[in-house]
Amino acid sequence: MPASQKTKQSQFHNPVSFEKAVRILRAGKVCAFATETVYGLGADATNCDAVLAIYATKQRPRFNPLIVHCADLEMAHKIALFSPLAEKLTPLWPGAMTLVLPLKPDAGVCDLVSAGLKTVGVRIPGHEQARELIKALGRPLAAPSANPSGQLSPTSSAQVRQMFDDKVPVLEGEPSSAGIESTILSVIDNRIVQLRPGTLPREEIEQKLRVKIELVTKNSKIAAPGMLASHYAPRAQLRLEAKAPEPGEAFLGFGDIGANETIAKNLAKNLSTAGDLEEAARNLFSFLYQLDASGAWRIAVAPIPSAGLGEAINDRLTRAAAPRKKIKDQAPGITGA
Ligand code: TXA
Ligand code: MG
Repeated sequence: MPASQKTKQSQFHNPVSFEKAVRILRAGKVCAFATETVYGLGADATNCDAVLAIYATKQRPRFNPLIVHCADLEMAHKIALFSPLAEKLTPLWPGAMTLVLPLKPDAGVCDLVSAGLKTVGVRIPGHEQARELIKALGRPLAAPSANPSGQLSPTSSAQVRQMFDDKVPVLEGEPSSAGIESTILSVIDNRIVQLRPGTLPREEIEQKLRVKIELVTKNSKIAAPGMLASHYAPRAQLRLEAKAPEPGEAFLGFGDIGANETIAKNLAKNLSTAGDLEEAARNLFSFLYQLDASGAWRIAVAPIPSAGLGEAINDRLTRAAAPRKKIKDQAPGITGA
């Protein structure tokens, strides 16, 4: 093997086998793993040192609670209190839905996981390997998205390694099939409130399960503390609802984007030529990541319909485009879960 290639390969020394991932987690350390939504940065939710290591690795503010991933309903029931209304939602598990529920006093998870709140976010991931990992650990797995706080969420193991300079062990897996985080629903006081739009569209849940989901408003008492105005931020600025790119801009298209000089120069990506929202969600973070890496100062983004999964896609784009207080000099991707 040529020396240059050797160096490149040995740069990535952190892909770990399933057994090693279990050993790392048992030892109270962090390990990234694939889920169907985005990659997670996992640690034993019952071990405070391990949970602290998540906050430190991500440089995440401690007020921002973590989702507790469970292998099955039995594990979830030990941690959170399920009202009859919450039980009505559980047929969507395993899957891309997180429920924020009252935390059981004897849940056994470290206080830092819920950042001192009386509630806890729980999810049974749809990804089989993720559930197997939790089963093998035998304990719930606290896991935020595996990105430095505020940056784009990673949808592949390579992105996780790049974002953390290969300092985080990653259980090797396929790229995430959904590409956008879970839908977060708070089920408190017999009301369902969507705290974060995500992979499972609200209307679809309402229709399937015959429930009513309220939207979170500025006056809502509850909120996901991590839903900062500026989030999912690439280094480049974003210009939304753009029909076509201007000179110097990269372009993130959707549907039929026609021919254009930028497109011809390969500074463009199309989320879905067919105008398919699922395909667009799957591509969103990785295409933003790639366009950001091109060095363009701004990325123009085509209008995306707001129905169904479009709600979550537009939510992420709006936060990625929001003014930032501080843009660190890192590349690619940057700043707040
Ligand atoms: O798809 C996903 O949800 C991914 C994968 C890895 O499961 N995880 C993820 O975690 O997106 P994170 O930490 O990046 O985003 C979780 C969000 C944060 O905005 C946090 O504030 C909110 O969930 N959250 C967690 N527990 C909460 C609670 N008890 N009350 C309100 N919001 C909560
Ligand atoms: Mg996140």
